[in-house]
Amino acid sequence: MWAIFYPIGEPFRLSFFLSMITLPGLIDPHVHLREPGATHKEDWDSGTAAALAGGFTLVLAMPNTQPPVTDGDTLDQVLDAARHKARCDYAQYLGAGQHNPDTLVPLASRSAGLKMYLDQTYGDLRLDDMGLWLAHFAAWPRGMPIVAHAEGRTLAAVILLSALYDRPVHLAHISRREEILLIRAAKQRGMKITCEVTPHHLFLTQDDLSGGRGEVRPRLATAADRDALWANLEVIDCFATDHAPHTLAEKDAPNPPPGFPGLETALPLFLTAVCDGRLTLEDLLRRMVTNPRRIFNLPEQPESWIEVMPDESWEIRAENTFTRCAWTPFEGWQARGRLSRVVLRGREVFRQGQILSPMGTGKNIR
Ligand code: NCD
Ligand code: ZN
Ligand code: ZN
Repeated sequence: MWAIFYPIGEPFRLSFFLSMITLPGLIDPHVHLREPGATHKEDWDSGTAAALAGGFTLVLAMPNTQPPVTDGDTLDQVLDAARHKARCDYAQYLGAGQHNPDTLVPLASRSAGLKMYLDQTYGDLRLDDMGLWLAHFAAWPRGMPIVAHAEGRTLAAVILLSALYDRPVHLAHISRREEILLIRAAKQRGMKITCEVTPHHLFLTQDDLSGGRGEVRPRLATAADRDALWANLEVIDCFATDHAPHTLAEKDAPNPPPGFPGLETALPLFLTAVCDGRLTLEDLLRRMVTNPRRIFNLPEQPESWIEVMPDESWEIRAENTFTRCAWTPFEGWQARGRLSRVVLRGREVFRQGQILSPMGTGKNIR
């Protein structure tokens, strides 16, 4: 069996001569782990098991829990759960709220960054008052990341704030043609913005799923929007799953919550795209390792890697996943390329579909 350690920055082509390739552990800068408050959907145990089963050795967790992570007490509470339960490395975002621009400042260095919800989505963290946007931009320490959920015209507004305050802003889950073109234009002007796109916005459209199961924010878009994301791949800094688990009972009930699980399907979908020639392995690693590491100022994980069988064909099935929500929008999809092993800081943590790391082995990288 051949094993190749893939050095980032060098061109690489999948070859059928290779029965196994070794890649760095992946980084997901956008996951929802639901603890505290909704551990029937996910918790730090099941969510970080899903991360490892998807090839991610480091995840950044969003603050729209119940209660949301908006002060020292809630940050301590979530980090305590993570310390006892996480199976992969992690950091936790703080949520921008109505009363906390100044009180977040001393907590910043213990967080992944500041998350600002500027449009309606799951949870109560939305900031409608633009005065509060200014207060958070003014107070949050320079050098610590800001991530914004901003769609359409709101996206244009937050890009202006990035320019006015002359500070980097990372734009979450970009989904539409007009948005990626706006970001392209802003980057051409040298603005300090970066962006991520989810697998579901790259592989699905509004015609693929209906009813509650199709609810996600930003909404699934048209084939023209999806194609514009692929056509502007060089504008996309990161692939982020926006792993947002809700149970099927919740998705199929009235007022379904928006969100898809994504941790366990991202790598196989992108490996399949590599196999189909839509992406190179270098494109993938830049967006799932090197760019997130740079944008969020994350440490390298020593003695950590993942092993992939590039030629293995298999079918995505929710029954084989670790996420507690127990469904996937990619049910029945054929994938080419399968994760076989994950090593985290010298320890084998996943092998052939089994999670081997005990709870509590994940490290807070902040
Ligand atoms: C996310 C969730 O469920 O927490 N839902 C979603 O549809 N993406 C919230 C978010 O990321 O906006
Ligand atoms: Zn969002
Ligand atoms: Zn999200």
